[in-house]
Amino acid sequence: MAGETVKTLWLLHGVNLDMLGRREPAQYGVLTLPELEAYVVECAAARGLATRCHQTNHEGELVEKIHEIVREGADAVIVNPGAWTHYSYALRDALEMVAAPIAEVHLSAIEDREEWRRHSVIADLAAVRVSGKGPEGYAEAVAALADIIQREEHE
Ligand code: DQA
Repeated sequence: MAGETVKTLWLLHGVNLDMLGRREPAQYGVLTLPELEAYVVECAAARGLATRCHQTNHEGELVEKIHEIVREGADAVIVNPGAWTHYSYALRDALEMVAAPIAEVHLSAIEDREEWRRHSVIADLAAVRVSGKGPEGYAEAVAALADIIQREEHE
């Protein structure tokens, strides 16, 4: 896209999501994390977004990555925090500092699973929420975030 600056999308994955592909495929599907990331990179590139990916099993590391995003700026963030979704106020506090639109994505339908999974401590910070649609949910999130960015540009 000549003349347009490339926008940055951060794709953040939390705890246990490095085990995708071998972790409960009935719940989380068969794609490995690198395959899922490659899919998102492709979807985002089609909408003019450059994706940067990060996964960690350490809560503080995710918080520090978010601080980096806050300092350096980003145009959009997709986050699947794994189990931290349900209880990490530290993650919530960090995401609260992010100015860019956030999409909360879950591969599984958290609202139809165990009681403790139904609550997300980051839900109200997310401009977009998708769950239970597998990798397609990420494509949906990319499209929704790209639309938000486009709308913001024309405001
Ligand atoms: C998950 C749902 C969470 O409840 C769970 O702890 C995960 C993955 C999902 O993508 O469906 O690790 O975020």
